[in-house]
Amino acid sequence: MFIFDSHAHYDDESFDEDRELVIKELKENNIIGVLNCGASLQGARDSVKLAKENSFFYAAVGIHPEFANEVGDLALNELRELSKHEKVRAIGEIGLDYYYDENPSREVQKTAFIKQMELAQELKLPVIIHNRDAHEDTLEILKMFPEVKGVIHCFSGSVEIARECLKLGYYIGFTGVITFKNARKIVDVAKEVPLDRILVETDCPYMAPVPYRGKRNRSEYIKYIIEQLAQVKDLEPENVSEQTILNVNKLLNLK
Ligand code: NI
Repeated sequence: MFIFDSHAHYDDESFDEDRELVIKELKENNIIGVLNCGASLQGARDSVKLAKENSFFYAAVGIHPEFANEVGDLALNELRELSKHEKVRAIGEIGLDYYYDENPSREVQKTAFIKQMELAQELKLPVIIHNRDAHEDTLEILKMFPEVKGVIHCFSGSVEIARECLKLGYYIGFTGVITFKNARKIVDVAKEVPLDRILVETDCPYMAPVPYRGKRNRSEYIKYIIEQLAQVKDLEPENVSEQTILNVNKLLNLK
């Protein structure tokens, strides 16, 4: 089974000790593509570096809502410069995260999100959207940019919210959460989303699927997400693998 990991953070410090070895093993284990997503400005720089060094890596550059305070003209200009590299295929991850009280204020997050959506529109790049406990405000901002398309990564909303995102032309990203015992809500979403709008992702080092739940995640484990999706949709895992690869290639305008 071939796998394209549509959302990973191999620049994360948890890979500092063995990053090169892990990436070598990914290649040997049929991982044909990885979109490494920047979370901070430094993460964006590191994502581009990984994409330059590894043929099957691509980069998304953007600033996560947790670091929304970083988003000013200087940072936006650097993202614009970074995006000129041919292996930068998306702006992300960007969005809203209302889960943690210590995150920047909602107003700061919304401004940073809108500024980066404007950048995606200007550069004609798709967006990688992070949305945690901010469904209404996220949808409102996505609707301000009808020309911009992308993926709602690590989708955590209801079936109704998934329908709204599909209507706006977005893909839905599934992580290891779908393999968790209490995953009924996301299983219902998977039943609803057509196969040609599904992406699979690790969000590594986090979100490892069962049987590796709680461990450091890596792209090979997407196999368990694909198997679970296949079961939910009554399909062969091979079909899910093939279609999700077509989907991510289409979104990132590859091949
Ligand atoms: Ni992420």
